[in-house]
Amino acid sequence: MNKIIIFDTTLRDGEQSPGASLNKMEKLEIAKQLAVLGVDVIEAGFPIASAGDFQAVKKTAEEVKGPIICGLARALKKDIDAACMAVKYSRRPRIHVFLATSKIHMKYKLKKAEDEILRTAVWAVKYARDKVGDVEFSPEDASRTEKDFLYRVVESVIDAGARTVNIPDTVGYAAPFEFGELIKGIKESVPNIDKAVISVHCHNDLGLAVSNSLAAVLNGAGQIECTMNGLGERAGNASLEEVVMAIKTRRDIFSGMSTSINAKELYRTSRLVSKLTGMPVQPNKAIVGINAFSHESGIHQDGVLKKRVTYEIIDPSDVGFGDTRIVLGKHSGRHAFRERLKKLGFELNDRELEKAFRQFKSLADKKKAIFDEDIEAIAEDQIRAVPEVYHLQRFYVASGSQVKPQAEVALGFRKKILNASSGGDGPVDACYKAIDKITGMKGRLVDYQLHSITGGKDALGEVTVKVESGGKVVSGRGSSTDIIEASVKAYLNAMNKLAKR
Ligand code: KIV
Ligand code: ZN
Repeated sequence: MNKIIIFDTTLRDGEQSPGASLNKMEKLEIAKQLAVLGVDVIEAGFPIASAGDFQAVKKTAEEVKGPIICGLARALKKDIDAACMAVKYSRRPRIHVFLATSKIHMKYKLKKAEDEILRTAVWAVKYARDKVGDVEFSPEDASRTEKDFLYRVVESVIDAGARTVNIPDTVGYAAPFEFGELIKGIKESVPNIDKAVISVHCHNDLGLAVSNSLAAVLNGAGQIECTMNGLGERAGNASLEEVVMAIKTRRDIFSGMSTSINAKELYRTSRLVSKLTGMPVQPNKAIVGINAFSHESGIHQDGVLKKRVTYEIIDPSDVGFGDTRIVLGKHSGRHAFRERLKKLGFELNDRELEKAFRQFKSLADKKKAIFDEDIEAIAEDQIRAVPEVYHLQRFYVASGSQVKPQAEVALGFRKKILNASSGGDGPVDACYKAIDKITGMKGRLVDYQLHSITGGKDALGEVTVKVESGGKVVSGRGSSTDIIEASVKAYLNAMNKLAKR
């Protein structure tokens, strides 16, 4: 097996996401979870950047056992000293030194020529190696570096003692085919390359970070630098969960390759990182987005319920996600609806099911998300359905701050439609009085309660009433996204009970 080393830089490059800064204890909590996840290397921070970052790397080195703990440093004495001081408490410390090698960076940022860059890189690696046995070197902006110069730098830093040479696509400029060729070129052209691991570090400016990382391993890279949820500078880094699951799911392509990641911890780690960084995960994010295993379309729901693999290439429980989520909505079909009812413990007969399904479809037209509580309310409507002496055809209300509430109600009764209108203290009262006129029964409202069944502006409202008439008290229940309609249904439900007696 060719084990691909997973180098997690959530706490360093990931923390460079604007707005994602973490304090020492938060970093420690994430680092501990990364160890549970099984990453091989944790880049815990950039110790020279701030006293807080130094402390966070030091604490991680002291407390997190298992993975290599790495600190980042520029090719400067003070950076390497700080990185060394911070990581030395780890049983497995690493220093990661970087220096830009592309013409653009050398000319405009560093204002140094190739020879000086080469000398500095070699000096920095030797200096770091004197302090720590495990040194990684990154020629920053490698994908835009002149190939011959890149090969010379890589060869020289390996001779100087670098055990890992990381090839960053710093600005996310590379395309997968080209990046794979770059790695292949390094493998074929650098004579001492077998003495080091080739690593890759891809940014996502063109949305290609994962593809580039995968192209690299197919061409000989042995380490992928990545972050949870794809966090990182600008558009982020290659997402850890995506590279890991691509290698695991497409064994046919990545044959003989594996990682040490315990995939069942992916979802939990993603949630923790999102919570502590305050960076939400987009709902359609691969592997860890809330919709990654959700199915809305009736055709897909039917397929997944018959055989999961029809529409899912990963079992959600394999990444710690729990169950496939069948999201009931206007595209859902009877199969999914019946299955959900069963799961919620409702066994409806065919007639009840048909009516419940129609009610569900009409609710789905009004409401974006249908929750289990909505389904329960619909099912209960059917189970507790009172034979309807009167059934609601339509109603109309006029109400406002300057007008007297007025209602017109039409009820079906023995194949006839009966109408009445009435004023009232409020729109509900006006409707109830109109119903009384039609039924000829005078109901006294003893209790009225309204509560929302689910959250959000389009929540389903449920009304329960107690109505007294001729000395008898009955209760009634109705639900709708329109609270006047829910109120009318509840009152009518009670009146039907009274009419039956
Ligand atoms: O993107 C980059 O080049 C980096 C280096 C420090 C490896 O983050
Ligand atoms: Zn980076």
